[in-house]
Amino acid sequence: IKKIALLTSGGDAPGMNAAVRSVVRACTYYRIECVGVYRGYEGLIEGDFEALSGRHVSNIINKGGTILKSARSMEFKTVEGRAKAHKNLVDAGVNALVVVGGDGTFTGGLKFIQEFNFPVVGIPGTIDNDIYGTDYTIGYDTALNTVVEVIDKIRDTAGSHNRLFFIEVMGRDAGFIALNAGIGSGAEEVLIPEKDIGLDKLEESLKNGRDKGKTSSIVVVTEGKKIGKSVFELGDYIKEKYPAYDIRVSVLGHMQRGGTPSCFDRVLASRLGVAAVECLLDRVSGVMVGVINNEIVLTGLNKAIKLNNEIDKELLRVAEITSV
Ligand code: F6P
Repeated sequence: IKKIALLTSGGDAPGMNAAVRSVVRACTYYRIECVGVYRGYEGLIEGDFEALSGRHVSNIINKGGTILKSARSMEFKTVEGRAKAHKNLVDAGVNALVVVGGDGTFTGGLKFIQEFNFPVVGIPGTIDNDIYGTDYTIGYDTALNTVVEVIDKIRDTAGSHNRLFFIEVMGRDAGFIALNAGIGSGAEEVLIPEKDIGLDKLEESLKNGRDKGKTSSIVVVTEGKKIGKSVFELGDYIKEKYPAYDIRVSVLGHMQRGGTPSCFDRVLASRLGVAAVECLLDRVSGVMVGVINNEIVLTGLNKAIKLNNEIDKELLRVAEITSV
């Protein structure tokens, strides 16, 4: 391996820059050339490359977003798009590719390996934490802390006005953000895709709270329909049945993806960046580098995308017990 290309793809996540820095610096350390690809697979197809030296990545470890920019490429889903991308890499003398992103990113990487036998290693970067083969994805810790900080603020208003708040958080099809932020912010109820508690249970838990003297409540809801309803429909439904509730709905949105990465995400990204380059040097391809029980673990990209990280049952119990 003499030249590695690096891209960030899919939804950006805080700590992606720390991963970029780590890959570039590891390349410098091992005397390999590193080429940055802009806008994920889009830039791979268009040949939007730039040689990166150790100095290009100075002072980015503390920055949110990704200096390489990101995109969700439709063209890379086509054989023609991938063929163009492959040609660009070969023309640029690149021997291997490191991709930072989530399941869409790894699916693209896997196709690329299958079609061209081109070495690819993945680094998990997404706020959703929905990747198998790592305890944490880059960006998840920062997003969690952002969400908890905001819910704390909303709780001030909820308390002052005796309100019931439904707060929608990101997570796509995974409830990691909602469950952990729910516990961390002391939410009364958490609605996640992994467990449909049903409307009766929601109503019962809100009623119990009132009976026990709670004057305000927070319900954290993963985006998408939960118990068959969007967060706004849930608000309307409860309002109609219980007119006494003063209800507000807050959708946190993309603010969850931005901001300064936490130290945890920076260290995780730094470890995974070095591990990815070392994998390629060892001629290992088709894997994602992750951390399990604080050790670097390699998982086949096919497994990383297919087997979803299971939600922790103990956390579900803790959420239930601590919200009585
Ligand atoms: O995968 C990260 C994520 O933020 C999800 O939580 C969310 O569903 C999605 O990306 C939003 O994507 P976009 O920024 O393209 O709207």
